[in-house]
Amino acid sequence: MKLKYFSHSAFQITTNSGKIILIDPFLDGNPTSVVKSKDVNADYIILTHAHGDHIGDAFSIAKRCDSLFICVDELANYCADKGFKAHNMHIGGGHDFEFGRVKFTIAHHGSMAPDNQYAGEPAGVVVSADGINLYHTGDTGLFYDMKLIGEMTALDYMLLPIGDNFTMGITDAVKAVELANPKVAIPMHYNTFDLIKADPGEFKRKIESIGKNCIVMNFGQEIDL
Ligand code: NI
Ligand code: MN
Repeated sequence: MKLKYFSHSAFQITTNSGKIILIDPFLDGNPTSVVKSKDVNADYIILTHAHGDHIGDAFSIAKRCDSLFICVDELANYCADKGFKAHNMHIGGGHDFEFGRVKFTIAHHGSMAPDNQYAGEPAGVVVSADGINLYHTGDTGLFYDMKLIGEMTALDYMLLPIGDNFTMGITDAVKAVELANPKVAIPMHYNTFDLIKADPGEFKRKIESIGKNCIVMNFGQEIDL
């Protein structure tokens, strides 16, 4: 599996079988993304919630690539109403797709769509493929059940926000890593805008000081997991 970080909460997973899965592809309106939506393809698009900085360019990419949306029920219906293919799931449920398994988790946040339509509850997601379990928390505050998520699935990677204001800041994110206990933490949702400025180096030092691993991915960087 390869993981590419566009910046903000936008990631691309490429499985060993060559399937491309995007999570929260916010690119064209994202001042920190060097990659733009016309240069991205997707077989599947997972949205954690409907905020504009997460839906991002999902619709233009899906239109061009005939991608399948994977979201919680209300957000999947929102995508389907706009004419897209969608697989409806919900929090606590998992499903085996051709590329691997997707399971939605809780997240403490909001999920109103940019056009003010109700899009259900926000979520996090555990993606399991090629023997790797990757937890993208979505936008969320800290919650103790992250411990339960880590107990039910041995997490290899945890992608989590550190930008504060709308989500966890660094102190809470360090506690989140302690609770979910992944092998590696990867910070996200920071430095996109002034309001969510955070130092990923500080996060990395604090994660390492509790004996855990952290990779700070550069914006646009792709790594082999
Ligand atoms: Ni949000
Ligand atoms: Mn956000």
